[in-house]
Order: sequence, then C-alpha cells, then structure tokens
Amino acid sequence: MAGLVAYAALIATFFIVGRAVRNLFFHPLRKIPGPRLAAATSLWLFYKEMKAYSDEEVFNLHKRLGPLVRIAPNEVSICDLEAYRNVIYSSNTTFLKSPYYYNAFDNPGGSVFSETNKAAHSAEKRLLSHAFSRANLLGMQGLLYSICDRWIKQLDKYVKENRPIPLWHASQCFTLEATSMFSYGSSNGSLEQEDLLHPLFLAFENLAVIVTVFQRLPIVQIILGKLQTLIPFGFPDVHRGSRKGLAKLKSQKDHQDGEGLVMFESMTKKAAEQHFDMDNDRMISNGSLMLSAGTGTTGLSITTAIFSLAEQPDLWRELQGELLSAFPDPSATPDVVELEKIPLLEACVKEATRVAVPIRGKHPREVPEGGWKYKEYFLPAKTVISASPLFHCHDEHVFEDPKMFKPKRWLKNDTKIMQQSHLVFSSGSRMCIGQK
Ligand code: HEM
Repeated sequence: MAGLVAYAALIATFFIVGRAVRNLFFHPLRKIPGPRLAAATSLWLFYKEMKAYSDEEVFNLHKRLGPLVRIAPNEVSICDLEAYRNVIYSSNTTFLKSPYYYNAFDNPGGSVFSETNKAAHSAEKRLLSHAFSRANLLGMQGLLYSICDRWIKQLDKYVKENRPIPLWHASQCFTLEATSMFSYGSSNGSLEQEDLLHPLFLAFENLAVIVTVFQRLPIVQIILGKLQTLIPFGFPDVHRGSRKGLAKLKSQKDHQDGEGLVMFESMTKKAAEQHFDMDNDRMISNGSLMLSAGTGTTGLSITTAIFSLAEQPDLWRELQGELLSAFPDPSATPDVVELEKIPLLEACVKEATRVAVPIRGKHPREVPEGGWKYKEYFLPAKTVISASPLFHCHDEHVFEDPKMFKPKRWLKNDTKIMQQSHLVFSSGSRMCIGQK
C-alpha cells in the first residue's frame, strides 16, 4: 500500500513539474514578461487574489514590465487605454467574457452579468433596458428622495446622541434600500437596522472570497451549490432577499402612474411582450445580482465622497454654497436634471467614483478564434486577457496625484483624456447597466 502511495505521489510530482516546465519554456505565452511563478502555476494568482489588493499588485507589475504582463499560465493582464476601449471592451468586441471567471457568479442560475454567450446576453439585456432607461429612473426620483429622508432621520439620531456615524455601513444601508426598492418595489429594512448593520453586508463580503475559490476550484461550487440551503452565509442569504422581494412584488399591484416601474415589473412585462421564457431561478439570480452589484459599489462611492469632503471643509462649504444658491430652499427636492447642471457637484461625483474604483477586480475576456497580435506578441485563441479600470482611473500620467480627491481637475477646459480614462463602469457592450 505504502509503495502504491509513493508511486502515485511520484507520478503527481512529475505531472506538476512537467506542466510547470511546459508553461515556462514551451508555452505560446512564454515570451510575455511577468513573475516566473505566475507563468509556472495559476496558484500564484489564486494566492494573490485571496490576499486582496491583487489589482494594485498587477498594476505595479505593469509599471515595471510594460503594457502586457503574464499573470497565470494562460492569462495575461493588459494596461493599454486604446486596446481597452477600442478592442477588448468595445461595443462590437469579439472578446467574450471568460467562463472560468463569470460562471463562479452563477448560483443557482445565471444572470445578465454572468452570461458569456453574446446573443443570450443581448436578449436578456433588452429586457432590462426600460427599467434602466433615463426616463424610467427620472420617474423614480420621488422614491429616492423618500429613502433619503428616512436615511437622514437615522443619521440624525447619531448626531443628537453625539455618536460617530459608521459611514461605510450607513452608506450601504442607503444604497441597499435604494437597490431593493428599485428592483422589487419593497423595503428590506436596512434603514431600521440596529447600528446600521444589515446581515447582507456580511454576505456580500463573504461573496468576494467564495467567488474567488469557485473560480479556481469549480468543483467546490458544484458541491456547495447542492448544499446551499444548509450553508448559513454567502449566496443563499442574498438569494433569500431576492426571493422575498420577488414574492412580495407578485402579491402587490402595479405602481401608480407617473412613477417609474420597478425593475422586476418592467422585466416581466418585457419578457411577456417578447415571449421570452424567464424562469424563476434566473429572475432570482438577476435580483440577487442587482443587490450585490448595486449596494457596495454605490455605497463605496458615497462613502468616498462624504469622507473626502469632510477632510476638505473649504471644498465642502463651496459645494454647499453652490447648491444653496441654485436651490435656496433647503427643504426643496430639486429635479435631478437641475442637479446635474451644477458643475462642482458633477465633478465631486465623478472624482469620488474615480478615486474609489468600486469594481477594481479584473474583467477577464477570451481571445477570439484566430488569435490576437498585440505589439510583438501573439496571443492564441482562448488566452484569457484581463484589465482593471484601476489601471486607467489611477494612471498618474493622466491624473496627477491619482489617489487624491481633487474634483476641480474635472472643471478644466480639456478633460478629454480624463473622460476616456474614467472607466469605473468599464466600456462597450458589457459596461455597467446601472451607471445612470
Ligand atoms: C458606482 C457604482 C457602480 C460601479 C462602479 C459599477 C461598475 C461596473 C463594472 C465595472 C461592470 C463591468 C464588470 C465586468 O465586465 O466584469 C458592471 C457591470 C454591471 N453592473 Fe455595475 N457598477 C455600479 C453600479 C451598479 C448598479 C447600481 C447596478 C444595478 C442596480 C449595477 C448593475 C450592473 C450589471 C447588471 C452589470 C452587468 C452588465 C452586463 O454584463 O451587461 N451596477 N458594473
């Protein structure tokens, strides 16, 4: 028996070493610069991603090694604005989402975010287009203001009791409520939570780690998927929120005229019009996606804006002055279209999202059939290629002091290159649907 185990271990060692040697010396990507360990085994990237801040680390590699860096045996990272906007993440790109990365978000069903098939994605996105249209969102302003009122009342309690406001959680309470009302038209109670800490926040934090494990070890996803009702954290919690919201919506009647339609209502109506078969699991996954994609991202942007403005009281007062001169009645609820006309406010929103880069993880795509030539390198079909918006939002050649909150940089005459580099919502056919 011992001999058999030793024999199996020897074979496994030969296999692992043999693969590493192949990856290092005989792989088509062998000439692309990068850490030797990353070229030999995907464990290097897995380890970095589990530790967090891997995107900062890859960004630093680009600064040393150039625009193309090999970060795993079959995966390269690219830092090139032209290639980002006009090739890989363009509107008519043939570089599709890489299944190894996005399938890890499927649980139990897929969603518009994780769909890797181009035609299926376009069909599903069409169902969402009305809900996310500017007209529909403008129609929901009243709802947003009422959430804002409830939020401010909660924060006021902290001020009156002279307690510090837990800004990150407070911001997420606001955005979770807004996303929930937008998606299902019902509250999830986040604004009534003790200490502004909703249980879903922990689930969202766990999701990041769980998804990274699923990406490298898909078998874990299959097993946990089967056991998911028994697992007390992660996807099931998020799905429970989504399932509850959907059930509530089904038992309510439509919104009154004059208001925007909530996402699920609009999506169901579109699906019926287009005879699109949208199964319940898929609806729930799309609902969970909205909660997880819409809460932390907008929450981090609001946190960054408030924190940075609090650090710069002169700027805070200047913004307050501009708002009060445009809307002298502080209890008014100005139309969003009017608010958008205040340049310093727009600049602060843009700068907060730029500094925060809420989704700074890589967005992996696969090189299409026929391969792709980039400078002196040839990437064969199916090579995974990824970039992070961080590389461009924090490019020191475009944004002086890239980590500093300096909204007035957006008020200069020529902001073309900054606008092009502001890729927090990505670009092209798979860019963020929620950016409006
Ligand atoms: C500041 C806030 C936000 C930021 C920075 C952001 C960023 C992004 C980015 C970078 C992507 C592309 C990811 C990839 O290709 O892997 C994306 C996709 C997506 N986002 Fe957002 N997002 C934000 C808010 C929202 C909100 C509020 C919602 C919905 C309520 C939302 C829903 C989505 C969806 C559905 C997709 C997938 C689109 C597709 O594949 O066609 N996002 N977002």
